Amino acid sequence: MKIRPIKQKEIKFASKIVGKNYSKEYEKIASKEIGEMFRNVITRPNYIVAEEKGEVLGFGGYIQSWMDYNVYHIFWVNVRPDKQRKGIGTAIVKKLIEIINNKKAFMILLTTSKPKFYAKKFKFKTLVKFKNNKYNLMGLILRKSDNVID
Ligand SMILES: CC(C)(COP(=O)(O)OP(=O)(O)OC[C@H]1O[C@@H](n2cnc3c(N)ncnc32)[C@H](O)[C@@H]1OP(=O)(O)O)[C@@H](O)C(=O)NCCC(=O)NCCS
Repeated sequence: MKIRPIKQKEIKFASKIVGKNYSKEYEKIASKEIGEMFRNVITRPNYIVAEEKGEVLGFGGYIQSWMDYNVYHIFWVNVRPDKQRKGIGTAIVKKLIEIINNKKAFMILLTTSKPKFYAKKFKFKTLVKFKNNKYNLMGLILRKSDNVID
């Protein structure tokens, strides 16, 4: 299995996974949002896929926060239903954290209905719960200072 940036022609396969995990409506939203990676915008999202033999098994995205340049967001982490619980989601999130950490970011924020997945494997902490505790806004502090001497 390879983890690499998504290709434009794979947007439909990635969004289909969202369609299967959630709904047709979310599939359309995901498709539009992934498409933003290929547009010339100031703050551009990036998406990576877990691929095997040319097939997209899962994906996930990240973006730098608007103005708060040291903060990044992770979103749309989705693994094909028939491929879940095989470590693919873990591999995707691990890679996303590694990419963001290499940018010397301070913090990662994400919203999820699967807080245990992020807490157990990656030590994200719940900051706020909403929609009757269905969703958790979680944070992971990567570093507390950039220690730059100026
Ligand atoms: C959540 C998700 C991304 C995890 O990916 P995955 O490939 O299935 O996860 P992994 O195989 O890497 O599992 C890692 C751990 O997460 C936990 N986990 C995985 N799926 C879980 C679930 N549905 N509920 C609770 N815990 C779960 C397990 O404890 C697992 O640990 P284990 O290996 O000791 O069993 C995937 O199940 C998915 O796409 N779900 C639907 C979409 C979704 O909810 N996305 C997250 C929203 S941010």
